[in-house]
Amino acid sequence: MTGQSSTAGSAPAGESIVDWYAAAARDLPWRTEGIDPWAVLVSEVMLQQTPVARVEPVWRSWMQRWPTPADLAATPPAEVIRAWGKLGYPRRALRLREAAIAVAERHDGVVPADVAALEALPGVGTYTARAVACFGYGRRQPVVDTNVRRVVARLVHGRAEAGNARAADLADIAALAPEDDARAVRFSVAVMELGALVCVAGTPRCGACPVRDRCAWRLAGSPAHDGPPRRVQKFAGTDRQVRGRLLDVLRAAEEPVDPAALEPAWDDAAQRSRCLDSLLADGLVEQTPDGSFTLPT
Ligand code: ADE
Repeated sequence: MTGQSSTAGSAPAGESIVDWYAAAARDLPWRTEGIDPWAVLVSEVMLQQTPVARVEPVWRSWMQRWPTPADLAATPPAEVIRAWGKLGYPRRALRLREAAIAVAERHDGVVPADVAALEALPGVGTYTARAVACFGYGRRQPVVDTNVRRVVARLVHGRAEAGNARAADLADIAALAPEDDARAVRFSVAVMELGALVCVAGTPRCGACPVRDRCAWRLAGSPAHDGPPRRVQKFAGTDRQVRGRLLDVLRAAEEPVDPAALEPAWDDAAQRSRCLDSLLADGLVEQTPDGSFTLPT
């Protein structure tokens, strides 16, 4: 055996997960055969902190408007922040534009296929670089997001939840991948889908799982999570919400706005001011010489 999880009479876990994916996968536009790696990069940056349903329409309009990295690179940041709409964590929009500029300048406008070159792009980390190499270029790569780490924690390590990211996550998932390269590429997206649809946080849908008979967590009797409780991100009242409200005002404005125009966005003046300062520091907002505020030009 080559490090693959299997039991007598059943296929290795990775193979079973690929077969399950063929029947159960969602039909998502960035998974289209022959998809442009640039389209994959945009989708992966958007999907990192935002659910599929919210990403899909924004991704479609981005790909129509900026079909190549050079198109986005030539666009003023204000337009890019506007087009990010309500996806949240808008620094991602600025980083994506910076990545597009780097691709245009350093790579002749072609998104690189090499993981190290991808990781050197602004805003592109371990996950995104491998996702683009794998889903955009068909390269065998372990691709590990939160969902995949949860599958590995249960299937391989018998733990209910993943805990913090570990250096060994990449090796764990590489060990499960099928030997055949094309199937290994399918496996990378398949295991992500398994974590998104079946091996979900909280109560998993084990009845629908293709590897339930080989899952270390189930074989151990599905022990409860014994670490610190999972953090559920709140939104109401947080600086993230306030920053979003302030950006909404600036997105809707054609011209720089007077500071008074930002007051209705949030009642608490101290929090409003702190959030405006953080938007300025992040380069998401600029102040004009007369003291007005605007999206960056
Ligand atoms: N397909 C490829 N990458 C994905 C992701 N990050 N989320 C959902 N589906 C995907």
